[in-house]
Amino acid sequence: MTPARPADKHSFPTPPSRVEEGVGTGTARLAILLSGRGSNMVALVQAAQTGALQGLAEVAVVFSNRPDAPGLATAAALGCATASLPSQGRPRAAFDAEAAALLQRYQPDYIVLAGYMRILSPAFIQPFAGCILNIHPADTRAHQGLHAYEWAFDNMLPETKITVHLVDEGLDTGPILAQQTVDLRGADSLAEVERRGLAVEHELYARALAALIKKTKGGHAEQREASRPLTNSDI
Ligand code: GAR
Repeated sequence: MTPARPADKHSFPTPPSRVEEGVGTGTARLAILLSGRGSNMVALVQAAQTGALQGLAEVAVVFSNRPDAPGLATAAALGCATASLPSQGRPRAAFDAEAAALLQRYQPDYIVLAGYMRILSPAFIQPFAGCILNIHPADTRAHQGLHAYEWAFDNMLPETKITVHLVDEGLDTGPILAQQTVDLRGADSLAEVERRGLAVEHELYARALAALIKKTKGGHAEQREASRPLTNSDI
């Protein structure tokens, strides 16, 4: 029996070349990273097909650090290329270096974190510096890390602010690209807080990304001036 190539053990196919993908057409290539459900990923895929990202972006790959993440199966069902690499038990820097090398094979213009529940080390951030986006279910200046909807609910906040930001080496400290307020008045359960928040997330992420791509004209790293926050007129 032929021994498996190293790539086979983690179930990711050889990515198509950029020529096959029609690179040069000006669309930005997205690598969407998730760890769980993937509702933001679905919204981004749909936006690339028929919404705010149509003609601006294509999904090069959906990647997860959890091979059993439900969002990965959803992405495959939507026709996206998928890849995974289990992070469990791996030293952070070694995993991140391997994940970055895997993703580089897909030649992404943007790394789009969509419920990717990992703190990224320099081994991951440096190869994609300035090109990694995250969506956070709160104002990153008010709440960082996990459980932002629980935080808003437990503190009976009248509103929260969904935030799209660039990722740097801190925890939710990168420059803010776009924010949108969610009215939480009358939300009497955590499920209702999340329902209202996710509705905004699904719309804001694609719009903010579209504005960034337009601003950077196709989005190659060298051309970026991404640290200027987007204004309302951008999105
Ligand atoms: C989303 O609410 C996203 O903002 C949040 O995880 C959820 C993922 O849902 N991310 C963070 O909390 C990052 N700090 P999804 O898998 O359905 O997109």
